[in-house]
Amino acid sequence: MRGEVLKSCFCLIIIVLCLGSLLTSLIWYKNNVDPHRPPPQKNKASQPFGPCKGCTEVIDNAVQRYSQTWKKQEDNYQNFRSKLSNECFGLEEAIITQTSKRVGSKIVFNGVRKTLQVTPQLSSIFAKKNPFSNKTWDTCAVVGNGGILTNSSCGNVIDSAQFVIRCNLPPVDNGYGKHVGVKTDLVTANPSIFTQNYEALTGRRRPFVKRLHTYGNSLLLLPAFSYTSDTDVSLRAFYTIEESDSPIRPVFLNPEYFQSLLLFWRSQGLYKGQLSTGITMVSLALELCKDVHLYGFWPFSTHPFSFHNLTNHYFDNKQPKFIVHAMPTEFELLLQLHSQGVLRLHLGDCQPGGT
Ligand SMILES: *[C@@H]1O[C@H](CO)[C@@H](O)[C@H](O)[C@H]1NC(C)=O
Ligand SMILES: *[C@@H]1O[C@H](CO)[C@@H](O)[C@H](O)[C@H]1NC(C)=O
Ligand SMILES: *[C@@H]1O[C@H](CO)[C@@H](O)[C@H](O)[C@H]1NC(C)=O
Repeated sequence: MRGEVLKSCFCLIIIVLCLGSLLTSLIWYKNNVDPHRPPPQKNKASQPFGPCKGCTEVIDNAVQRYSQTWKKQEDNYQNFRSKLSNECFGLEEAIITQTSKRVGSKIVFNGVRKTLQVTPQLSSIFAKKNPFSNKTWDTCAVVGNGGILTNSSCGNVIDSAQFVIRCNLPPVDNGYGKHVGVKTDLVTANPSIFTQNYEALTGRRRPFVKRLHTYGNSLLLLPAFSYTSDTDVSLRAFYTIEESDSPIRPVFLNPEYFQSLLLFWRSQGLYKGQLSTGITMVSLALELCKDVHLYGFWPFSTHPFSFHNLTNHYFDNKQPKFIVHAMPTEFELLLQLHSQGVLRLHLGDCQPGGT
């Protein structure tokens, strides 16, 4: 069944969502499955999860580059940012609004060759105002979900950012807050998360609503228009929020923005794979914020400094069933931006209570 296949594909994207995902060596070599052409690569169940074999040199090299003194390079930042905004227009285009997609216009899915005409009903759930137009923040933290955040004590530092972006409804309560923070200004939710963790929102929706409460009045970014099978479940999320007392503010990711980001990163050297939510959010942050800090972005299964084994996410060790993102390549590009002083990666633990 084609729908099933598409769903499975989307699962991939969810699972591997944030760059923080641990990569096994399998991923390292086979990172380029095109989700348009299933079936994607299956991770062998027999593959033991552990340190990335053959990645030692790559990790050493990354640590060495990371360990150079970091300094913001204003020129590099401005150049990169203007290239990004001139090609992708994130501040204006990232979120669908009632004026950017008027009734009668077409939404072009980015994962399949399909379009959807905007009906009055659909239009009514789009944002009336663009939350980002003319907005910039001084400091933003983009929090990936990587196991590197486990016991990192980075919560306070993350929470000290003006604008905090998280990926795929990650837990911030139950003791995680100390290490990942609790402040959330934007959180993404891929359709696969609904399918995997919340029964596609066709059964009890209380667990979903409870999770939303941990993000206060954050924006909830729904990528509802990559594949046609994403739309209904994302609309159910929207309706659930509407019927609940959640102050969260659902908005829809514009698939055309996502597509232009893909082209942008292709031009930067990311030749394979679909964009992860992590790099998508970093891109948005680079337009929104003067100082962009990344936490939880480390795609290897070994800690860069203590060398202990890391779990795939800071909250679980679920392995991706399929590999759709080129995490090490994405990480390499982010590390380059770090070295150029465009943004700042954080790989080490933080001082508890400090900055
Ligand atoms: C780390 O993972 C490897 C491979 O699975 C395993 O052999 C090793 O014992 C693990 N180390 C620790 C300290 O758990
Ligand atoms: C953005 O700011 C500029 C200059 O302050 C102003 O002219 C413009 O109308 C603003 N746009 C929006 C959408 O608020
Ligand atoms: C994190 O800290 C807790 C409490 O100190 C400890 O039990 C746990 O083993 C630590 N986890 C890792 C991966 O170091």
